[in-house]
Amino acid sequence: MGEPRVVDLVAGARPNFMKVAPILRAMRAGASPLVPRLVHTGQHYDEGMSGVFFRDLGIGEPEVSLGVGSGSHGQQTARILAAYEEHLLSPSPRPVAVVVVGDVNSTMACTLAAVKLGIPVAHVEAGLRSFDRGMPEEINRLVTDTLADLLLVSEPAGEENLRREGVADGRIRYVGNVMIDTLVRELPAARSLGVAERLGLAAGGYVYVTLHRPSNVDEPGRLARLVELLGSLGARLPVAFPVHPRTRERLRAAGLEAVLAAAPGVRLLEPLGYRESLGLMAGARLVLTDSGGVQEETSHLGVPCLTLRPNTERPVTVSLGTNTVVGEEVERAWPLVEDVLAGRYKKGQPIPGWDGRAAERVAAALAERYADSPAPRRS
Ligand code: UD1
Repeated sequence: MGEPRVVDLVAGARPNFMKVAPILRAMRAGASPLVPRLVHTGQHYDEGMSGVFFRDLGIGEPEVSLGVGSGSHGQQTARILAAYEEHLLSPSPRPVAVVVVGDVNSTMACTLAAVKLGIPVAHVEAGLRSFDRGMPEEINRLVTDTLADLLLVSEPAGEENLRREGVADGRIRYVGNVMIDTLVRELPAARSLGVAERLGLAAGGYVYVTLHRPSNVDEPGRLARLVELLGSLGARLPVAFPVHPRTRERLRAAGLEAVLAAAPGVRLLEPLGYRESLGLMAGARLVLTDSGGVQEETSHLGVPCLTLRPNTERPVTVSLGTNTVVGEEVERAWPLVEDVLAGRYKKGQPIPGWDGRAAERVAAALAERYADSPAPRRS
């Protein structure tokens, strides 16, 4: 018997945790010849942005913690790259492959570190494109997919984009959406928490809001228009808004935090854990967001979702799901809100591979590709 065939599974920021959880579980449960090793880069580190997710999702402690913390894009990416390379060069078993998920800075930085050492990378959620290079995530997606060996795709557009970019068919595998695996597993527990009740919100009678993209919160004029929209919405229907640390900082700096907190019907909350957030989302009449994951989760739940962005890299949530991309003009949300309140809004349909079993397909694809790959070489 030689060294175990270790596969590193990288998680860094909040939206990564619900994607690695089912993959870890599937790799541990099946008779996988590969041994998963969880690496937490520490891009997110707070109890509210990281700790609670590990507990909610039953992930257990990461085997490797890089502890990089916050910083500018350049600093953060560089720190992750250097710290992960150091780990890969350490005497611990060298992985036969590295699995990265999503599109955060940790995804791209760990991909770079691995491929430079000749370690193949599998990207879960490959091929998504917003075609907007002003988004940091789009740069991360392009770099990661260019360098990855195995491209595991979550929605039909992912496959189309990769083919158009000239990626060989043999490297692309449609596996479906691992985040929906987590949703399916956690929904009963999430509903039974009764978070809406505790907040005094009637089931199906409130709006759930998440906003944190730089394009929405970093420019004070745009942020002010969004605050105005939420204030007007609150006058119609209660609004529950867990505020991301970036957004909190920007609201404060723009002098808008007190304005929003005082708006009738608007409840500002601290960032929520996975189950609390899912429970609130599932019971909402309407969701307003700029998150990628929330567009997918609402589509699976059948809850109307208005995306406050000019584009989406997840078009199946619009064509089959319950999502509508509002566009640059915040006011365009209003007729859609009226449609939702009048019961005229689209209902959505099931999406292929969003069935709670995507992680099993990921584990199978990894085993097929890397179980017999040559023993890792040192360089
Ligand atoms: C990152 C991801 C984004 C994802 C989002 C989810 C990139 C480029 N962006 O953006 O795709 O949708 O996570 O949250 O990777 N902070 C804390 N506690 C933490 C982490 C961060 O307070 O645990 C604060 C810090 O002030 C930090 C700011 O939040 O500067 C932003 O964090 P950062 O990781 O740089 O980016 P996000 O905006 O969270």
